[in-house]
Amino acid sequence: MLRQQFSMSRNHLSTQLLFELSRSGRRAVRFPASDTPDKPLTDLIPSDVLAETPPPLPELAEPEVVRHFSNLSTLNMSVDTHFYPLGSCTMKYNPKRNERLASLPGFLELHPYQPEDTIQGLLGLLFELQSMLAEISGLPGVSLQPAAGAHGELAALMVAAAYFRDLGENRTVVLTPDSSHGTNPASAAMAGFDTVTVKSNSQGFVDMGDLAAKLGHNVAVFMITNPNTLGLFDPQVGQIAGLVHELGGLIYLDGANMNAILGKTRPGDFGADMMHFNPHKTFSGPHGGGGPGAGPICVSHRLTPYLPKPVVIKDQGHYRLDFDRPKSIGRVRSFFGNVGVLIRAYAYIRTYGPQGLEDVSENAVLNANYLLSKVRHFLPTPHGDRCMHEFVASASKLKKERGVTAMDLAKRLLDSGFHAPTVYFPLTAPEAMMIEPTETESKDTLDAFAQTLFHVTGETAELLHEAPHTTLISRPDEVQAAKKPRMKWSAQ
Ligand SMILES: Cc1ncc(COP(=O)(O)O)c(C=O)c1O
Repeated sequence: MLRQQFSMSRNHLSTQLLFELSRSGRRAVRFPASDTPDKPLTDLIPSDVLAETPPPLPELAEPEVVRHFSNLSTLNMSVDTHFYPLGSCTMKYNPKRNERLASLPGFLELHPYQPEDTIQGLLGLLFELQSMLAEISGLPGVSLQPAAGAHGELAALMVAAAYFRDLGENRTVVLTPDSSHGTNPASAAMAGFDTVTVKSNSQGFVDMGDLAAKLGHNVAVFMITNPNTLGLFDPQVGQIAGLVHELGGLIYLDGANMNAILGKTRPGDFGADMMHFNPHKTFSGPHGGGGPGAGPICVSHRLTPYLPKPVVIKDQGHYRLDFDRPKSIGRVRSFFGNVGVLIRAYAYIRTYGPQGLEDVSENAVLNANYLLSKVRHFLPTPHGDRCMHEFVASASKLKKERGVTAMDLAKRLLDSGFHAPTVYFPLTAPEAMMIEPTETESKDTLDAFAQTLFHVTGETAELLHEAPHTTLISRPDEVQAAKKPRMKWSAQ
C-alpha cells in the first residue's frame, strides 16, 4: 500500500529512459547552416555500407539529458553518498586525493606497450608496492597481477598446485572452514582441487577435532580467513599452521580482513604460506560492480618461483619486468594488473605510513565494537560482545516471534538512506546480518545507523515485509537478476 502511494507520487519524467522521453524533432544543439556545398552521402561513403534508415536515436533537449543522467546517478547507493555497512564485501571510503594521484597525466597517459625505459616511474612505484605488501604480509614474494580477491585466491592455488607438481606430490584436497567466503571453495574447485569443508565450533572458530579428522597427506592447502567472517580472530591459527605444515600442506590466508590487523600481526608470522589482499577493503581501492579491482598475492620464499610472471625487479638501479621465471604459472592478467587500483593502494599506504596503518586498524576495530555495543541491546550477536573489524547480528529471534527476517530489516534500512548490511552470510549464523562500518565513519553516523536499525526492529511486520517503499525497484528476484540479467532495454 505504502509502496503504491510512493510510486504514484514519483515523478517518472526523472526515471524514464531517454528513448521513452524522446519526442520527434527535439534537439540539444542546432547547427548553423553549412557554408560549404552539400554532397550526397553516397559520394563520400560506399553505398553498400550505408544504412538504409537513420538509427532510431532518442531526440531530446539538453536539460532532459542532464536530468536523466543526474537522476540515474542517484538511484544507486554508493560509499560517497551513504553509510555502507556491508560486511565482508565492504568497500571502504576512497579518499579523493588518491583518485587525483592515480589520474596524474604521467600515469593516465602511459601505454602498456611503451618501452621499459620510458615507464621507469610506474615500474618503480609497482616495485615499491611489491616491497610494501611483502613487509605488511610478512611474505616476501609478491604478484600484483590478480584483478580481484577471488582472482588472487585462484592464482595462489595455481601456485600451490605448481609447487606440489614440482615436488612430485599428488595432493588433491583443499580444506575450507564452513564460515569461509564462497570464493574460497569456488577458487579451489577452479584450480582443480576437491574441496572439503571443516566445521566451526560453537565459538565460531575452526573445530580442531573436525580439522584433525580431515587432515591428511592428500591435503594441499588449508584456506583460512583470519579474522574470520564472523569478525573473530581465531587464536588457534598458529597451531593449525603447525598441524598442516607437519603433513606437508600449505596455509592460504584469505586476507580480505587485513583491515583489522594492519601492523598488529602479519600472516607470514602466524604461519601463512600465501595470501591475497583486497585493496578495496584495506587500501581504499575501488571495486564496484565486479571490478576493476585488484587482488595482489604474497607468498613465502619456497613458493616465489611459481608466481605469475612478469614481476617487477630492480636491476642495477633500473626497474624492469622479469619474464625469466621458468617455474612461473604464467600470466593471470594482461600487462601489469589493474594499475589504476594499484596506484591508489600505493598512495594510501605511503600516506598513512606504518604507524598510520596501525591506527587505521585500531579505529576500524573500535568503530565495529562501538556499533556492536549499541546493536546487541536489540538484536542478538551470537558470537559475543567483542569483535574485530565486523560483527554478525542475528534476526532469528524476531523471525520466531514476529515473522520478521534479516532480509526485511535490510530492505527497510534502504528507506532511511542506509545501505543494507550483508545478510544470510556467513552461513553458520541464522538470519545473519553482517555489519562492517570501517574506520572512516564518525560517531554521529554510527549512532544514526544504530538508532534507525533499532527503530526498524519495532515496526510492524506488514510494513517490513513490503519494504523498501521508496526505491524504484523493491524486491527483485535476486537469483534471476544475477543469473539472467536483462542487460538491454526493449519496448514492450
Ligand atoms: C572473506 C572474503 N574473501 C574473498 C573475497 C573476494 O574478494 P573479491 O570480491 O575482491 O573477489 C571477499 C570479498 O570482498 C571476502 O570478503
